[in-house]
Amino acid sequence: MTAPTTSADAHPGTALPEMAAQLQRGALAAATTPIIRAMLRADGCYWHAGTWRIFPGTPDQVPKVRRYVRSEFAGDPALDNAMLAASELASNAIAHTASGHPGGMFAVHLTQASPHHIAVMVTDQGAPYQPQIRHPDADQDSGRGLEVVAALASLLITTGDATGHSVLAVIPDSDDDTASR
Ligand SMILES: Nc1ncnc2c1ncn2[C@@H]1O[C@H](COP(=O)(O)OP(=O)(O)OP(=O)(O)O)[C@@H](O)[C@H]1O
Ligand SMILES: [Mg+2]
Repeated sequence: MTAPTTSADAHPGTALPEMAAQLQRGALAAATTPIIRAMLRADGCYWHAGTWRIFPGTPDQVPKVRRYVRSEFAGDPALDNAMLAASELASNAIAHTASGHPGGMFAVHLTQASPHHIAVMVTDQGAPYQPQIRHPDADQDSGRGLEVVAALASLLITTGDATGHSVLAVIPDSDDDTASR
């Protein structure tokens, strides 16, 4: 895990946009509430600053989110599942929230939440509805992303409101320890 970065690091030479600063504040407020700290502790985890980055809210950013996770956790036994979770959560921010509107953006926070867990948190710019795990029928094409993340995660927590949600997934080491790529 590298030292914490800021969106200014992610976009060298540019001023931190106010929208990005708002995302950062919202995300950190979400991650550090007593109830979330308690839920993490119960899972043997804790939240610390970690690293974070702001991405434009366009579909071409999803592979970049995966690459970001890989760059931070190469070789970690939770890497593959953390990349999958991050890409589902980023896709949701783009597809379902104001982050996907023109000029929108979303934040990705990554934290080594314990020696055996990676925490991935995606903060968006809000939607009139909540992230919700659906259990679609076999003939439905969509509605499985959060179900997949929930299956991978030891903890999946959503906070926020219509002005912005943070979805935090805590991903444990995979039994299939192949992540040395
Ligand atoms: N960040 C979010 N903010 C608000 N609502 C969300 C967010 N993420 C998901 N949702 C809601 O939760 C539902 C379930 O999300 P999920 O990722 O499981 O399915 P999907 O995105 O609709 O389809 P798929 O992921 O299979 O392409 C979405 O249809 C949407 O209504
Ligand atoms: Mg989805």
